[in-house]
Amino acid sequence: MEPGALLSKLISRTGLLEQHVQTLRRLEPLMAPMASEIALAFYDYLGRDEEMRAILWEVPGRVERLYQSFADWYRGLFCGRYDAEYAEKRARIGLVHAAVGVKPSFIMPAFGIVQELSLEHLRNTLRTPEVFSAVEAFEKIMAIEAALMQDSYMQAMEYGYRLGMAADQEKALVVGARAILGKTN
Ligand code: HEM
Repeated sequence: MEPGALLSKLISRTGLLEQHVQTLRRLEPLMAPMASEIALAFYDYLGRDEEMRAILWEVPGRVERLYQSFADWYRGLFCGRYDAEYAEKRARIGLVHAAVGVKPSFIMPAFGIVQELSLEHLRNTLRTPEVFSAVEAFEKIMAIEAALMQDSYMQAMEYGYRLGMAADQEKALVVGARAILGKTN
């Protein structure tokens, strides 16, 4: 399924309504300035795991580049325009992870960290009635992000299998993701 079509389904499955989109847009001035701080804390967390640290430091300049890309991704959560273009960008990010060997099992805990850091900031800065609607909208967009990422991994794996890598799942993921990225670049 095309990322745009999948996103439409996810919007309906998570119940992301116009009121949630407006809430996310309203949160932008509060949350976007936090992007760099959240990126720092996020990569600090990833770097504490031996396997993830090895991937992060495998290529010179990678971590520095990642701070910026992650912060852009984070600000995007509050853009208020969740359309086919948004879905394509997010799907590509998923493929980049699969292509560089980030294991699927690293992804959900990492989303959990983004959630934890963000919820802490929301709780510290918003008043009680506002915080509930903010958390609800934020959790919906995060569920959508996680599902888009998961779908990219599935696409990569399936393509890797079709290319004859069925005997080795990890290899299938990397080969499949690289081949899809090669086709779309
Ligand atoms: C919530 C989960 C995550 C988010 C939102 C995220 C965000 C991003 C973004 C936006 C990019 C840039 C992609 C591009 O070039 O188009 C990226 C790349 C990358 N991420 Fe993540 N990431 C996540 C989890 C992880 C985890 C768990 C690892 C484990 C080591 C990781 C390692 C990397 C690596 C190695 C790259 C490629 C960097 C490069 O050489 O360009 N990420 N990430």
